[in-house]
Formats: sequence, C-alpha cells, structure tokens
Amino acid sequence: MATKTRKAPWMKLLFKIATKKIQNRRHFCTIAASCGGIVRIPLGFRSTFFLNDADAITHVLVQNESNYVKNSHSNARLEPFIGPGLLTNSGEAWRQTRHEVQRELYYKNIIPYAPFITKTVQKHLDDWKQRLGSHVDLVHEMSKLVFDISAMALFGGDVQSMTHDIIPRLHASNKYFVSGLFLKTGIPTPKNLQFRKTKKIIDDLMNDLLNPPQPYDNYLTPALRSFRHQPDDSESVRLRHLNEAKHFILAGHETTATALTWTLYLLSKNPDILQRVIAEIDTVLNGQAPTLEQLDQLEFMTMVIDETLRLYPSLWIFDRAAINDDIMCNYQVPAKSIVIICPYTLHRNPKYWSNPNQFDPERFNKNNRNYVPKNAYIPFGSGPRVCIGKHLGLMIMKFAISMILQQFELKIDPKLDVAQEPLITIKPDKAIPLKLKERSQGKQGRGQI
Ligand code: HEM
Repeated sequence: MATKTRKAPWMKLLFKIATKKIQNRRHFCTIAASCGGIVRIPLGFRSTFFLNDADAITHVLVQNESNYVKNSHSNARLEPFIGPGLLTNSGEAWRQTRHEVQRELYYKNIIPYAPFITKTVQKHLDDWKQRLGSHVDLVHEMSKLVFDISAMALFGGDVQSMTHDIIPRLHASNKYFVSGLFLKTGIPTPKNLQFRKTKKIIDDLMNDLLNPPQPYDNYLTPALRSFRHQPDDSESVRLRHLNEAKHFILAGHETTATALTWTLYLLSKNPDILQRVIAEIDTVLNGQAPTLEQLDQLEFMTMVIDETLRLYPSLWIFDRAAINDDIMCNYQVPAKSIVIICPYTLHRNPKYWSNPNQFDPERFNKNNRNYVPKNAYIPFGSGPRVCIGKHLGLMIMKFAISMILQQFELKIDPKLDVAQEPLITIKPDKAIPLKLKERSQGKQGRGQI
C-alpha cells in the first residue's frame, strides 16, 4: 500500500513569527526548530523547508542528493567576491573540480604537511613570546595562524607578512555578505568600495600564489598545485583556477579559525576540562613538539573539539534547492523549493542530545559516540558534498591547540561573556583578549588574569 503524503506544517511557525521579536537569523532558526523536525517557512514566494531532523537531512544530502543542488539565491551573495567554484557550483562543474582535487586532501596525502604545520604554529608562538605580558585578540590571532598554514599547505606560498592586513578585511566581508544592506556591488557605496578593494587585494594575493617564482618541490608539494597557472593557460582557465583557489582559502580558513577560537574560549570557561586536556597533552607529548602519531593519542582533546563543533558548528547553516518534485519523509517537496539545513539547531535538538546546551565532551567518548544517530551530527556536512578539507582542518586544530596549551597559560578573563554572531560562519561577537603568559614548569596553565 502506498504511503500517504502530506504538506509540511507551517501554522505554528507563523504564529511564533507573528508574536515574537526576531533578534537575528540564529534566533529565527531556533524558533523554527522548536516547531518540529520538518516545517515550512510561511514567507516568500517559494516553498521553503526548515529541517531539524536527521532522517530528512539524510534524504537531502545523501539518499536523493542529486535532486538537491546549491541554491543560486544564496550563491548570489558570495559570487561577486569569489566567483563560481567548488562551494557554489552544482552538476558537472562541481564534479570536475571535486574529482580533480579530492585525492590531494585525503588524510594519507596531507601527512607530509604535519612538520610544516608545527613549524608555522611555533613561529606564531615565538612571536607571542616576544610580547609576553601584553594582550592579543584570540579571534584575530587564530585567523592569521590558519590563513598562513592554509596558504602554504594548499598553494605553497608564504603570506605571513600580509595576513595582518587581510584578516580584518575578510571579517568585514563576512559581515557584509549577510547584511540587509547587501546591494549590487557595482553601485559605489562606501561599503561596496571597501568590498571591491578587499576583492582586489585577495585576487592579487591569490594570483601571486598561483604564479610562484620557483618550483615547490624544494620544500613542500602543495595540495592544490593543479590550480597553478601554466604559461599557455587561456584567460578563462586562469579565472577558473583563481576562483577555485579563493573558494578553498576562504572556506578553509574561516571555518577552521572559528572552530579553533571557540574551542579555546570554551576551555577557558570550563577549568576542569581544561586541566584534563593539559594533563593529557603533558603526558603524551612529554614536553616535545607533537608528531602526527601523538595527535591520535590525544583522545580527550579530540572529544573536546568534537563537542565544540557540536555547539558551534562553524558553517552553522546552509541550503539546497530542489530540482524536481520530491517526497521527503512523507512530506511533499515541490520543484524549486528551498531546503534549509542548520547544524546549529540540529546539534542542539533534544531528540538527539540530552542537556543539549551543556558543554560535555564525554558525549564523544568511544562508547557514547556510537549512539549518535546518523546525520544528527554534521559539522562537516554529509554525503558527496561533505567537507573536502575536513582532515586538514582537524589536523591544524589539533596541532595548534596542543602547542598553545603546552606553552602558554590560557589567560582569558573569566568574566568575559562572548555571544555568537551568525555570519556565514558563527563567529564570536567581540574580540577575545588573551594575556600572553608562558607556562612555567609544573604549572597547569591556569592563573590570575
Ligand atoms: C573545522 C573546519 C571546517 C568545517 C567545520 C567545515 C565545514 C564544512 C561544511 C559543513 C561543508 C558542507 C557545506 C554544504 O554541504 O553546503 C564544507 C564544504 C567545503 N569545505 Fe569545509 N570545513 C572546514 C574546513 C575546511 C578546510 C580546511 C577546507 C580547505 C581545504 C575546506 C574546504 C571546503 C570546500 C571547498 C567545501 C565545498 C565542498 C563541496 O561542495 O564539494 N573546509 N565544509
């Protein structure tokens, strides 16, 4: 007997929208999530569904993924800056690039970057050691660090002298992409002019990275060498490579840096958990720089990262557009519908997580992680479009956290209250001042501010 299909509910959400003051996009998503696993958003001309249900997400991202493509409306905000590329393309254009570079980012192929990553982290920490006693902004510092590492690992270029200027510009662009004031970028408003300047700086930097002065092979073979410009490349090939390269550097740097910042912030708020992480690092590393093999032994630190990505999934919301009519978990989805997937609310859905707002890394211990339902935890997405840089991102985070906590006290004012700013990534809403103090032997990285 055929299963009866129905239309997704929307009345409850309409009532809540009409009676509550919506503060921002994250608040809206929290309200939508409270209305059920699959709800229709009763606004706009197109049918729009908000999913807070692991089975529905499995349907869209895995089982019937070919019916759900990237949403051109959401892309329209990003593409003036980065053009079309892996993040935004669908169909053959997406498949071609994914096929071209996927292998280079497999775990076994990024192993050679490990010594280089530790070297770059150490360079940043040595710079901190020149500034002991002063404060740095953790948000800015983690962005700089990840940008430097990504530029070298992906393209083989040293950009350290430029990141100080680039990072605030990228942050402003991240804000601009989601602002209600986003206008056609051709109109010369002050924000548009800033935006164009940032685009030019990034384009110039990336073109330099794609035209390196000497062969890479002397020191490191970068992952995305196939985007490198060749003398006989046509203008259109060069533009495609430039755009693809920008997709990678932006997707990789912003997500990883944000996750790294939240992890350290949450540790500073949970001193007992911090002590456990430090004790593990001290035991496993025994005062030496970490190796890749040792990263695998830092089990508790890995649980802390997993739990941070549950509460603060960097890419906290993304969407798809349906090509054809479909049935999703017995609900009718008309062609051209938009489907919104929000890891932020999914990861706090009480159906899947007990005390969902509590920071509890034990959820991800060897035993408990087996009980997490499939696709109820998707910080890296799922299905064929799962994050291509997941292993690199996690590797950078583990090296950075272990080396920072090995060498520095995590001196963040315990009274500091940081909220989440829902941009394209879910960023801290303010600077996080970290007072630079080296750990002395026998000390456990905690002390007075
Ligand atoms: C903690 C770090 C990271 C997080 C949380 C993260 C998260 C994600 C998520 C959720 C998606 C899927 C988006 C969707 O389905 O629409 C994605 C895709 C992607 N990520 Fe990451 N990412 C991280 C690190 C990286 C790194 C280091 C790179 C660069 C090497 C990268 C490059 C990309 C690209 C190019 C895509 C598009 C893949 C495709 O559509 O085929 N990401 N990422």
